[in-house]
Amino acid sequence: MEKLDLEDIQGIIVYGYGKLAAARYLLLQITDRSAGHDWLSSLVDRITSAARNPSVTGQSTCLNLALTASGLTRLGLAAPTLDQFADEFQEGMTFTPHRQRILGDQGESAPEYWQWGGTTTPRIDLLLMLYAIDESTLEQFYQTLVDEFVSHGIQEVKRLDTQRLPDRKEHFGFRDDISDPIIAGTERTGTPENTINAGEFILGYRNGYGQYTNRPLISPDHDPEQLLPIDSASGLKDLGRNGSYLVFRQLHQDVRAFWQFLDQQSRGAQGEPQPQTRLKLAAQMVGRWTSGAPLVATPQQDNADLAEKNDFLYHASDPQGLKCPFGAHIRRVNPRDALEPNPGSAETLNTTNRHRILRRGRTYGQPLAGSMQPEDMLNAEAASNPDLERGIHFICFNANISRQFEFIQHTWVNNPKFDGLYNDDDPLIGDRGQNQTHGVSHFTVQAAPVRKCIAGLPRFVQVRGGSYFFMPGIKAIRFLSQLI
Ligand code: HEM
Repeated sequence: MEKLDLEDIQGIIVYGYGKLAAARYLLLQITDRSAGHDWLSSLVDRITSAARNPSVTGQSTCLNLALTASGLTRLGLAAPTLDQFADEFQEGMTFTPHRQRILGDQGESAPEYWQWGGTTTPRIDLLLMLYAIDESTLEQFYQTLVDEFVSHGIQEVKRLDTQRLPDRKEHFGFRDDISDPIIAGTERTGTPENTINAGEFILGYRNGYGQYTNRPLISPDHDPEQLLPIDSASGLKDLGRNGSYLVFRQLHQDVRAFWQFLDQQSRGAQGEPQPQTRLKLAAQMVGRWTSGAPLVATPQQDNADLAEKNDFLYHASDPQGLKCPFGAHIRRVNPRDALEPNPGSAETLNTTNRHRILRRGRTYGQPLAGSMQPEDMLNAEAASNPDLERGIHFICFNANISRQFEFIQHTWVNNPKFDGLYNDDDPLIGDRGQNQTHGVSHFTVQAAPVRKCIAGLPRFVQVRGGSYFFMPGIKAIRFLSQLI
């Protein structure tokens, strides 16, 4: 197993900073190159590395940083070097109609309506990620950083606050942050099926194919201070090593529409509400109960003892989707061993594992009901401000944006023919066929003797902003702060 240079890898790639409950993301613009360099050099020693787990050291703040392609250009990175980064990163999330189609960014989710990162919003050069033990520590941390960057001509384009929900849930009321791949070579351990080569997430290490993902390599002449690591194969300086591509999507959730739809679909013959049926249907859409317990392990009712269970596959225990429907969110975004042509085989699992991501996002906005109970979310009096902005600042890391994040989004989430289905996209986050001409989306619940098909799913999640970033290794940040 390759040894990871944890001192040089930014901490958020390896850890979720679970004990740091408060977080804020700042989208920044560099106005002056040399002031930008000075600011970066003053900051680099404060960037949190992956060498120590902040949840163990008990540190009260963490800081991480990522750049867009325009940010790298602003800092003076030469075009031939920039060209060696992935095309998706260079082009950006909104660059072509093709990419918008791939991602399902159509209709209300089209980049022209985005609040940031869109086609009509200001340029973004940099993302600063601030984490703190509590809100007041975060505020102080923020103020110090703002004073520093403003004095270096850096402008805050957008500030994105986060809000942690009770029991680590997301806004629809389901426990989140359970399943993530284990990065081989880190202190965390897990099942072999879920342990993934570091190179799938961090550049400069072997990926799932045993190869190194392309990354910018430069002549040693361009690194006179010897700041960057060397790529031993070529003798060139490795600007990409210990870095990762960061995908950021601000996803608004229409929580009221979600539960109202489920309520209508689950009513009894006389139109009476059936809370248990409603809850089960919602769990079937997610693939886990609200506690987090997976349906493959407990298909009939929730069981909080299984809330964090993640050591399961699909084929042996649920080949026909009778426990967890084929189209459920978690069975789509990580089908594990379920897919054709050889479901249940190691080969299938390996193929799926070429499309994994590390999720590091956080929720934002007030919950619709503080109790997070569907009943309260549906109840007009208890539910406050149904139209307020709330959702997930979805953040994930991968080494190959098109093979990992974009593939999941296009081939699994928004694909109506996923796993033999006919007209079903992801019931939770699908774009409802806005790419296609076929119109109405379904959600199919496999059952014997006949499956149940629910038609006319509204779009529950809309995109409000987004961008592709590169999160460099810490040595690479120092190098970028000294570019001539
Ligand atoms: C508002 C948007 C979203 C909501 C409410 C949501 C909700 C959830 C929930 C409740 C889980 C189960 C808990 C867990 O395993 O951590 C989950 C898992 C997951 N989600 Fe999402 N999600 C959203 C967007 C996305 C997007 C955009 C992607 C990727 C394109 C994604 C990928 C995943 C993955 C990979 C897992 C883990 C699946 C597994 O390994 O079993 N999610 N999500």
